[in-house]
Amino acid sequence: MLDAEPNDATPFLPSGSGLAALREAAVACRGCHLWRHATQTVFGEGRRRARVMLVGEQPGDREDRDGRPFVGPAGRELDRALEDVRIDRRDAYVTNVVKHFKFEERGKRRLHKTPKRFEIDACRPWLDEEIRLVGPEALVLLGATAAKGILGSSFRVTRERGRPLDSELAPLVLATIHPSAILRAPDDDARQAERAAFARDLAVVGRELGLGG
Ligand code: URA
Repeated sequence: MLDAEPNDATPFLPSGSGLAALREAAVACRGCHLWRHATQTVFGEGRRRARVMLVGEQPGDREDRDGRPFVGPAGRELDRALEDVRIDRRDAYVTNVVKHFKFEERGKRRLHKTPKRFEIDACRPWLDEEIRLVGPEALVLLGATAAKGILGSSFRVTRERGRPLDSELAPLVLATIHPSAILRAPDDDARQAERAAFARDLAVVGRELGLGG
């Protein structure tokens, strides 16, 4: 009989070390099955004591190849919104709830597949350590998968977006849409509206933290 796949990253975490050692250890994570088809672990990146941590869903095709979070089209939307509200991405820490790209192959294309709850739970120890070590003042959850994964499946981004939430994870916890929602907007007007609403949500963080002058 085949051994069951593991479903917990905990055994792969280094004991009592910093962010660099954590990132290094995540390279070899086999805590769930997602490592098998992905190119590499895409760990969070940013300042060790960043005041703002942004948490997405999982790396996309481009991130999987580059090994860095939010460097593809959704990342460009994120950068643009951060710039709009004068939060410098270099002062933030950017990561995902799941650290491997989950996809299905369609011909030559690799199509994103939403991670399931057990995959998010398996990966959660990495994020918990990132939060503990960075200690952000603001934790921003990007999109329903990240928000539900962290705050529970009954959480509704559409209802709660852009307001401070009751959570012990950071002094300020806030959820908003995933920047890829902007890319999926059906036309230009809808895209502008999504962009503006996304920037408004992020501006709450800037205001609360007194960023951007
Ligand atoms: N979407 C995400 O949620 N994270 C990334 O890193 C890229 C796209």
